[in-house]
Amino acid sequence: MGKRKARGERTDMPLNGFAYEVSMVKEAKDGKPSLEATTLWDYPTQSYGRTPKGDNKFQGVTPAFLIWNLIQRYTKPGDLVVDPMAGSGTTIDVCKDEGREVIGYDIAPQHPEVIQNDARNIPLSDESVDLVFIDSPYSDNVSYSDHPDCIGKISCEDERFYDELEKVAKEVYRILKPGKVIGWLIGDQWVKKKFTPVGFKLYERLAKYFETVDVICVARRGQSSHTGVWHYRAKKFNFYLRGFKYLFIMRKPAPPSTKKPAAKVKWAKYK
Ligand SMILES: C[S@@+](CC[C@H](N)C(=O)[O-])C[C@H]1O[C@@H](n2cnc3c(N)ncnc32)[C@H](O)[C@@H]1O
Repeated sequence: MGKRKARGERTDMPLNGFAYEVSMVKEAKDGKPSLEATTLWDYPTQSYGRTPKGDNKFQGVTPAFLIWNLIQRYTKPGDLVVDPMAGSGTTIDVCKDEGREVIGYDIAPQHPEVIQNDARNIPLSDESVDLVFIDSPYSDNVSYSDHPDCIGKISCEDERFYDELEKVAKEVYRILKPGKVIGWLIGDQWVKKKFTPVGFKLYERLAKYFETVDVICVARRGQSSHTGVWHYRAKKFNFYLRGFKYLFIMRKPAPPSTKKPAAKVKWAKYK
């Protein structure tokens, strides 16, 4: 720990007061991840701790750190978390570990507790859920299953792809309690010399229903294209390899409060 000055400032902080190295410590001593403070999230591994979270061999598995961060910030123990495209069950494993109620669905489940269901029709009542997390397909680049209703069979160059994801967004809007949050992870596509801004196109659809809390840039690691050959090709033929995904953190608007405004916070207390 750095020495403290009389006014409570750390003397070993950089001049701008931003200790980036603090957020790079991903796993705290108790085996849990640490809470992110910036909008750049970069994880060296898919999971943390001694037990697996999801299946790191499943193509498209979500970084467990990311789900851990969302539930720490936007839920409390006992809250209900739903993942309508739960795949190998990373959301289920993280939530159970953290004392959250959780339901995971998928069109082609890869985890014993994930329930088979289409995300465009979620069997839950209106305004019953505290947090939704979705890591959706972002084109037809990965073969998740042979199920004909897999949205990952539709190309992101086809407007139908966004129409189907919008149906999922509408369902999420219906089941979320007012004021509660959805985290949606998605990447862009660059194939055959053509860039498709999948993230921006999905964001336009989500913004019809939800208010934006923030947009996180999640570094993409463990990609099959992260090899010397692909890096060489990207430089020689003048294109870029995908380096990040977007995590859209959005909120279902809450009706205006009828409560009296809370007493003013005394900021002096925190100086
Ligand atoms: C990126 S993977 C999710 C990974 C998951 N979060 C994990 O950690 O294993 C996307 C998932 O969306 C599912 N999916 C595609 N279309 C669907 C649909 N119509 N309804 C529900 N799930 C769907 C796929 O089967 C696939 O498992």
